[in-house]
Amino acid sequence: MSPIDASSIQLNEEGRLKHFLTTEGLSREILTEILDTANSFISTQERSVKTVPLLRGKTVVNLFFENSTRTRSTFELAAKRLSANILNLDIARSATSKGETLMDTLWNLESMYSDMFVVRHADSGAAHFIAQHITPNVAVINAGDGRHAHPTQAMLDMLTIRREKGAFENLTVAIVGDILHSRVARSQIYALKTLGATDIRVIGPNTLIPKDIESLGVRAFNNMQQGLKGADVVIMLRLQKERMETALLPSESEYYRLFGLSTDKLAYANSDAIVMHPGPINRGVEIESAVADGAQSVILKQVSNGIPMRMAVMAMAMSGQTTTRQEEV
Ligand code: NCD
Repeated sequence: MSPIDASSIQLNEEGRLKHFLTTEGLSREILTEILDTANSFISTQERSVKTVPLLRGKTVVNLFFENSTRTRSTFELAAKRLSANILNLDIARSATSKGETLMDTLWNLESMYSDMFVVRHADSGAAHFIAQHITPNVAVINAGDGRHAHPTQAMLDMLTIRREKGAFENLTVAIVGDILHSRVARSQIYALKTLGATDIRVIGPNTLIPKDIESLGVRAFNNMQQGLKGADVVIMLRLQKERMETALLPSESEYYRLFGLSTDKLAYANSDAIVMHPGPINRGVEIESAVADGAQSVILKQVSNGIPMRMAVMAMAMSGQTTTRQEEV
């Protein structure tokens, strides 16, 4: 489904993570190591002193070519809690808006001895492109590229699922909404499959479900009652209107009537199902407030888990780079 094959370039010669671009193609061992590492950082987040010295002396650059609040701020906090120096670049106001190319911007940042780039970009493949062209020893973390991938979001969701449900085997997971434009859904599907979830479903109107989605090993539904039956995890997605070139929906109210997660529709899922959403949530469009704020919702836990998850992938990728450098010496 995805033409971008990043699986080979994100691992070093020892098979350890050195960039984090996509969950596609990563082994169960690596994904589990990421989850275990993130889990070990959760306790550090609950202490009064939250920092650990793993990235002391390193410089991380947050390169956000597309807007973000949650992802950008949790990457910033994660870098700070690893004791790194972090530079936030507001690209909209920077040199790219004056005509400088992406690679010129990167080469300038490299010349300032940056060690890691956290990249969000509206084009699918942007983080992969940067990882291919950057100087060795600089790690690239994908913070969301176009419709392609959002691996740290998917992994913080996996961490949340594992902490709430224990194991992935025998889990039924339903992903609901705008699957077509969602990099989150794609990254979640690859991670869920590799981690062993047996029943993965996508639910939405035909216009928002990619035609070839079932080739990823998921089942597609156009009906909430059928799709949510027996679900342990319900993941709601936002309508990505900024990526819709044509009208793909009759109206928001019709969408909400058919696919919005109301208390009534949630009752189709298992009674102990958890409700997730990567944010930003649109209340009354894809989810009812009573559900978003209700007892089954783990939406704010996802946000909390974003920090230890981002700490984990940053620490692992930096250490994967260091190994390569030592080998070269
Ligand atoms: C997601 C994204 O940017 O892909 N949000 C996020 O990272 N928290 C999903 C979305 O924008 O709907």
